[in-house]
Amino acid sequence: MAADKTMMPPRPNLFDFHGVSMVHYFTDNWEKVQNFQARPDDILIATYPKAGTTWASYILDLLYFSQTQPDRQTSTPIHDRVPFLEITSLPNHPSGADLADNLVTSPRLIKTHLPVQMVPKSFWEQKCRVVYVARNAKDNAVSYYHFDRMNVVQPEPGDWNSFLQRFMDGKMVFGSWFDHVTGWWEKKQSHPKIHYMFFEDMVEDTGREINKLCSFLGLTSTTKEKDQIRHQSQFDNMKKDDMANYSTVKVMDFKISPFMRKGKVGDWKNHFTVAQNEQFDEDYKKKMKNTTLQFRTVV
Ligand code: PPS
Repeated sequence: MAADKTMMPPRPNLFDFHGVSMVHYFTDNWEKVQNFQARPDDILIATYPKAGTTWASYILDLLYFSQTQPDRQTSTPIHDRVPFLEITSLPNHPSGADLADNLVTSPRLIKTHLPVQMVPKSFWEQKCRVVYVARNAKDNAVSYYHFDRMNVVQPEPGDWNSFLQRFMDGKMVFGSWFDHVTGWWEKKQSHPKIHYMFFEDMVEDTGREINKLCSFLGLTSTTKEKDQIRHQSQFDNMKKDDMANYSTVKVMDFKISPFMRKGKVGDWKNHFTVAQNEQFDEDYKKKMKNTTLQFRTVV
């Protein structure tokens, strides 16, 4: 679906918000986000943008509700089934906190791109479970670049080279990839209720990752149900599903790039020049030298 550019606001600017680059759509009415009241059985799906949020949301929604509420998957887009907590002032969009407050499901599935230090404190007080999905930096950057090209409520991406430099500098909406993935990784060491997943593992063996999710969540789905969910959540099937592929969202111009773009590990090789790759690797080593967190850029 093409965005009607005459109806769209100008591209937003990035600004520093408590040390994290943000756009105003996620920081206007910040008290509302910070004061959000989580419930003990809420499940928070946390990711850096473009790391597999929609995929994880889709799988969790099916795990919890495909048996009990089969109509839900055909009638309601995934981004309404699993609201995005920090949306506060997107055009024609209710606030994420209001959407979450109005969810009647149990558990409520709620998603966020917030870095760990910005998550509303009620999620920790209520000891909610968190599913965090991380994706290797190179593919994450490529996916983010194409997203910013097609989404008018994101800042202008500029050309690939300047975008990549900005990514390395952490001047992206929701801040630095490096701080995000390592911040959540550190939190996991002291918080048993965080399940830290990798996009690359999901591509390699979705069924295995669904099994791990079920163990973490204490779900007893049958082999048949899990196999059905694995099938439904394959890239090609989600891409065809208008309730999963974001075709109902007006701010995205699919003529520029679809939301369900490639879904691969290693597409970075089609974007990075040799020089960009060398510079990126050097910078990456420095920024990741104090963490045990490891990523795969090929599977
Ligand atoms: S967002 O806008 O932050 O919520 O985006 P997010 O959902 O986190 O990430 C979008 C990328 O995930 C890919 N994707 C998948 N890959 C493989 N299999 C499945 N089922 C799947 N679903 C979503 C999607 O294609 C985006 O990655 P790229 O590399 O751009 O294709």
